[in-house]
Amino acid sequence: MARVNLPKTCGTCHTGPFVSFQKSHHYKLLTDGDDRGPTCSTCHGEVAAQLLSPVGLANQCSQCHGPDRPVARPGRASEAMLMMTEVREVRHRLTEAQDMIRRVKDRAARTRFEEQWKQAEVPIIEAANAGHEFVFDNLKERLDRARQRTDALLDALISGGR
Ligand code: HEC
Ligand code: HEC
Ligand code: HEC
Repeated sequence: MARVNLPKTCGTCHTGPFVSFQKSHHYKLLTDGDDRGPTCSTCHGEVAAQLLSPVGLANQCSQCHGPDRPVARPGRASEAMLMMTEVREVRHRLTEAQDMIRRVKDRAARTRFEEQWKQAEVPIIEAANAGHEFVFDNLKERLDRARQRTDALLDALISGGR
């Protein structure tokens, strides 16, 4: 499969990452026939669709952007690592909120919390998708929204959910 066609192929199922990837400089390289940039399988493998850890992601960026590399961009790797770490941290708290919601006895309250949980999950999914632009302004905005909603949800659970 030609590297340039891979994003579109994966993108038939993974619209979110594909839409953001198309805004990236990396995508432009691909469509210009420049093979120095990453495509989907660079980070996710050919078949195994694995996810990267924050450190694993930083290592990927550094393969090409490290200080001694041809397309050196100091700071790209550490910024990506920080962003991923923050995404994971909010996701982790959302998982904790989910456990707390399961223990809420009052059914109406539980339904309300579940709705609030979904509202908080949307921007964190969007943040992970936006990461595929590899510049992180949109990711940060989504992440902030997810964090605020998650904090509000946890506050409500702690004060009224038991
Ligand atoms: C025919 C549809 C389809 C195509 C094409 C496809 N995938 Fe997937 N992919 C899925 C489904 C379904 C899942 C499981 C979804 C889940 O677990 O939330 C998945 C899971 C993943 C995951 C893990 C998501 C997670 O949260 O653990 C990654 C990463 C991924 N795919 C990347 C790719 C890449 C890269 C390509 C192209 C080489 C690709 N996929 C092609 C349907 C597809
Ligand atoms: C430079 C590395 C890199 C490249 C290139 C890349 N991804 Fe990702 N991808 C990631 C990281 C990092 C995550 C977030 C993992 C997490 O959330 O734990 C991710 C998450 C995903 C997920 C999980 C769902 C989600 O959005 O959170 C899917 C699906 C996915 N990528 C598909 C793709 C597709 C399709 C392409 C090509 C268009 C692509 N990725 C290119 C690094 C990359
Ligand atoms: C397979 C090699 C490769 C990987 C992996 C890679 N890049 Fe790139 N990236 C490139 C190349 C090549 C360019 C174009 C540089 C040029 O034209 O001077 C580029 C350009 C960029 C640009 C636009 C130029 C700029 O600095 O403003 C950004 C932003 C960027 N990469 C961020 C990242 C981040 C963040 C990661 C890790 C998540 C990453 N890249 C991973 C090869 C790569």
